[in-house]
Amino acid sequence: MKKIRVNTSHPYDVVIERGCISRCGELISEVLPPKKAVIISDDNVAPLYADTVLRSLEKCGISADLFVFSNGEQSKNLSTLSNIFDFLCEKNITRSDFLIALGGGVVGDITGFAAASFLRGIEFVQIPTSLLAQIDSSVGGKTAVDIKGGKNLVGAFKQPALVICDSNTLSTLTPEFLADGMGEAIKYGMIRDSRLFDLIAAHQLSDIDEVMDEMVYACINIKRIVVEHDELDKGERMILNFGHTIGHAIEAWHNYTGITHGMAVAAGMCIITRRFADKIVADRLEECVRKYGLPTGSDAPMSELLPFCSKDKKREAASISYIVCPEIGDAQIRKVTVAEFDSLMEG
Ligand code: GLY
Repeated sequence: MKKIRVNTSHPYDVVIERGCISRCGELISEVLPPKKAVIISDDNVAPLYADTVLRSLEKCGISADLFVFSNGEQSKNLSTLSNIFDFLCEKNITRSDFLIALGGGVVGDITGFAAASFLRGIEFVQIPTSLLAQIDSSVGGKTAVDIKGGKNLVGAFKQPALVICDSNTLSTLTPEFLADGMGEAIKYGMIRDSRLFDLIAAHQLSDIDEVMDEMVYACINIKRIVVEHDELDKGERMILNFGHTIGHAIEAWHNYTGITHGMAVAAGMCIITRRFADKIVADRLEECVRKYGLPTGSDAPMSELLPFCSKDKKREAASISYIVCPEIGDAQIRKVTVAEFDSLMEG
């Protein structure tokens, strides 16, 4: 078993171990008293793992109920959240009880926000079952739902009590979902760790499982360091957005259909790196991105992407921060006016 301690305002461990989902009750009992829990999951993940989780909780004296909603980003909204709150009331959940997010990023984000706001805050545990959720969204305490005005616009910082990563759960992912997470894994290598980048570049989608635990550990450890320095996302944490300014614009241009987050981030990293780093760095990044079946660019014309970039929530007043990696393993934050950003990108 590998364990990473995340020393944020509310410290917690991330446990990484193959098969550990079947002993989640034991792991949870080490950090939370055996009260009542509600597992929140979606209709893709619940049929695969809810019984295993329920059985393990029961063995440790934790009684649990299960709330399941339809999978997909379209469920990450105030209406699902309201249904979750109604369910928690129905089950008489109190402040000493807790929630368990069992699923990918959507499940983790909405469960975290429910935990942050129900009764002004109750504990929650993350059991991420997608690569993207294991290496990114389950760690660091960002929780949110989408509203008409945009994705993740309503949320809170709420650190979990524990994160349980079982890489066996990744074996049920489709290649597209696995590649989605690989976009973020490549990002971690680019921003902070050339060794991690080399490890990823030496593999491909079909054999990355051989080094999955090592890779997941390295990614989460980078996220830990960044989040410990800047828990509330006021500065350094921005480096986690490498590839995301253009990536979010690509996702929005496609109306969030036919393109995954990881595909958009991969394209965003390549576009920025091609513009702002040496050819050798851009070539290595593109080669790695291609190995995971991810795109190195976008069909969307830059002039149509830029209006989406200036709507990005990372924008502050008239300025925009974008992240550049002049070398593999080294991220720099650059802050410019929106007009300067547009001219740099169109030039
Ligand atoms: N996913 C980016 C962050 O947690 O800041």
